[in-house]
Amino acid sequence: MPAPEQTAVTLTVNGVQHQISVEPRRLLSDALRHDVGLTGTHVGCEHGVCGACTVLVDGKPTRACLMFAVAAQDYAITTVEGLTCADGSLSPVQQAFKDCHGLQCGFCTPGFLTTIAAGLEDNPDPTEDEARDMIAGNLCRCTGYQNIVASVLRAAEIQAENRAEQDGESA
Ligand code: FES
Ligand code: FES
Repeated sequence: MPAPEQTAVTLTVNGVQHQISVEPRRLLSDALRHDVGLTGTHVGCEHGVCGACTVLVDGKPTRACLMFAVAAQDYAITTVEGLTCADGSLSPVQQAFKDCHGLQCGFCTPGFLTTIAAGLEDNPDPTEDEARDMIAGNLCRCTGYQNIVASVLRAAEIQAENRAEQDGESA
C-alpha cells in the first residue's frame, strides 16, 4: 500500500508557529494534540456535539474536530493553554473555575474555558440566563452545570475587577 500523502502545514497556535506534516484528512483536534503536542484540547465525540475540543479560531469558538488541520493554517488558533496570562497567572475564567469548583473530572473543562473566554468578550456582563446560553453548546458528563454557570458569572466579576484596577492605575 502506498504511504499516505503528507501535506506541510504551518499552524499558528497561541502566537507560536508550528510547522507540521500531516495527512490532508488530519483533524485539527488531532493535529493540536499529536503533532503540536498541546494536549489540553480534549476529544470526546469527534462529531461536533460535546464541545470538549473547542478552540478559538481568530477568536471564535470552533469545534477542532470538525476542521481539517490544513484548513486552519491561515488563522490564529488559541487553545486552552493559550488562555493563561502572559505572566503565567490564571486568566479570569480559569481562576473562576477554581473559585467556584467549576470542574469535576475536568474532561469537558478546556472546551468550556475557551467557549466562556470568547463569550465574555462578546458579553462581559452576562445575566444568569445569558451565562446558561453561553455554555449551551457544551456537554459536561459530570453534570457540573450549576457550578459552571457560577464560574461564568465569577469570571465576569474578576474581569470587571481587573478592568477597574487597570483604569485606576492609568488614571
Ligand atoms: S470532540 Fe469535538 S465536539 Fe466533541
Ligand atoms: S467535569 Fe467531567 S465531564 Fe465535565
